[in-house]
Amino acid sequence: SHKAVIFDLDGVIVDTAKFHFQAWKKLANDLGFDFTHEQNEQLKGVSRVESLKKILKWGDMELSEEEFNRQMALKNDNYLSYVEEMDENEILPGVPKVLKYLKENNIPFALGSASKNARTILKKINLYEDFDAIVDGTDVSKAKPDPEVFLIAAEKLKAEPQDCVVFEDSVAGVEAANIGKMTSIGIGDEKVLQEADHIFNDFTEISIEFIENLLRKE
Ligand code: BG6
Ligand code: MG
Repeated sequence: SHKAVIFDLDGVIVDTAKFHFQAWKKLANDLGFDFTHEQNEQLKGVSRVESLKKILKWGDMELSEEEFNRQMALKNDNYLSYVEEMDENEILPGVPKVLKYLKENNIPFALGSASKNARTILKKINLYEDFDAIVDGTDVSKAKPDPEVFLIAAEKLKAEPQDCVVFEDSVAGVEAANIGKMTSIGIGDEKVLQEADHIFNDFTEISIEFIENLLRKE
């Protein structure tokens, strides 16, 4: 058996929450209510459909199925206009160093994201070719905290779940990794991600020694 690594995308490799915030805020404002940063925080790791359901609940609003789908498409178009401007500079500090280490040591790594825009984003930041497997919101039927996305990724990397290390910034994602019997590394606030096996504020706090120990074969 061999070790493998699975990365979430949004909030781990890139900070797209700021773009989601702009796009959801515009949607809310167009519908006549506001949308806060605190609410945006609660949408981390949450699928597009579930996010809009939550937002409409917060705005105390109901939409017909047709209008719901129209608003969701408008939001995504708006979000993609921000994604369009992305390039390598959007890769979060400390991430390239870890990816380089994995490549040099032949440790396979995958993407495991809830986003249906994951492949577009990876291409924009020039990492699309680097991943050994990509599993995203277009490949799964069950959202995090269901471990489906990570289990499919593990399978594609031909690794046992217990040999996988998952980097996640959302509570649902950490839970998904834990349910999947993988090692979970939380990236963000330790008060929020307390269920993770290890927690760091960001990748600049992660040393190569730590990664080395984590991936050492028992
Ligand atoms: C997650 C983000 O990675 O993907 C969520 O944390 C987002 O905020 C979800 O709603 C779905 O993304 P997309 O790109 O398919 O709308
Ligand atoms: Mg995330």
